[in-house]
Amino acid sequence: MNNFTFQNPVKLIFGKGSIARLAREIPADSRLMITFGGGSVKQNGIYDQVVAALAGREFIEFWGIEPNPKIETLRKAIALGREHKVDFLLAVGGGSVLDGTKLIAAGIPYEGDPWELVLDDRKIGRVVPFADVMTLPATGSEMNAGAVISNLATQEKFAFHHSFPRFSILDPEATFSLPPFQIACGIADTFVHVMEQYMTVAGCSPLMDRWAEGILRTLVEIAPKIRENPHDYDRMADYMLCATMGLNGFIAMGVPQDWATHMIGHELTALHGTTHGQTLAVVLPALLTVMQEQKGEKLLQYGDRVFGIREGSSEERIERTIRATEEFFRSLGLATRLHELGIGAETIDEIVRRFDERGTRLGEQGNITGEVTRRILERCK
Ligand code: NZQ
Ligand code: ZN
Repeated sequence: MNNFTFQNPVKLIFGKGSIARLAREIPADSRLMITFGGGSVKQNGIYDQVVAALAGREFIEFWGIEPNPKIETLRKAIALGREHKVDFLLAVGGGSVLDGTKLIAAGIPYEGDPWELVLDDRKIGRVVPFADVMTLPATGSEMNAGAVISNLATQEKFAFHHSFPRFSILDPEATFSLPPFQIACGIADTFVHVMEQYMTVAGCSPLMDRWAEGILRTLVEIAPKIRENPHDYDRMADYMLCATMGLNGFIAMGVPQDWATHMIGHELTALHGTTHGQTLAVVLPALLTVMQEQKGEKLLQYGDRVFGIREGSSEERIERTIRATEEFFRSLGLATRLHELGIGAETIDEIVRRFDERGTRLGEQGNITGEVTRRILERCK
């Protein structure tokens, strides 16, 4: 096991009715700005619950943080926050609203252009405290310090890290209005977060392995039930908790991490606007195929413990395991090939060009170069 430091200060407030707790959690004298996406919270009643919970409080609202939040939009939110001397932020929405709010929180006190903070998070100084009401289980953003921001002008999408939410309110009933495609992408995103931290080297930590396998197995078990009935409170609660536990540091203690699927996926989103979870469903099976020698022992363990694949030679089991992974994504209703998304050879060339230019080396061994990325993307054409 590698050395590690672990600290996660997020207060999780979980369960139906928990939005009513807002007034107690946000300091009474705060100059509060609430941030939102495109309006789903007005349709499903979450906005009304937030306003009711904060009755008698003053706050300003910023609307329009889009999926894959854009720096162009966030600059406007930062200007509004500064104008009103905001000293507490509440994100109400999915991972994009919360990620955008993490940048607003760092950007309000920062004197330069906030994109500089995305490119180099060591420049982040003071951060306005922030919290969230999460409406889409997927990113784990509610219990981690990361955020991913896009730049329309340069067609780039990068992650940065700074501070954690003060608290996160997770009410599974808030997810009942999610469209099936967003649920599918959220389950795929959660699955791949776990895989990025698990599918590396065998034998590092049996405890981390079993925690990770527990989340993967739970997702495989609940996905068809959720597809059948997305208003099943207990299953949506499990899904929500899987998403949080998938990327809050708990399964990452002392183990190597990969993240190549995410980095390649971010390029697909930057160039085509493809939904995050959908990009991962395309890239992961191809990455496992190309990297199967390096990841072989772990693939055999994963096949056995998550999909019950135990018969046949190692090669056969690995092949079946990768197929089972792709079939799982397809069972969610997602595409697993680039051509299904209308993405072709020029995009592959452009991603390889970018990785070569940046000197990108991904994966737990830092050996996924531009050329290896080409093999991965050719594989999922
Ligand atoms: O904007 P509104 O109208 O609210 O609609 C959203 C949006 O259109 C809608 N939605 C959210 N909750 C809903 C709902 N519709 C109905 N009912 C609800 N309860 O869903 C759409 C997608 O929302 P978005 O926030 O973009 O989805 P998600 O939570 O999957 O976030 C994706 C972003 O997070 C980043 C991704 O790269 C992407 O930019 N990630 C952030 C991570 C992190 N902070 O740690 C890690 C992840 O790997 C990921 O990269
Ligand atoms: Zn993700």
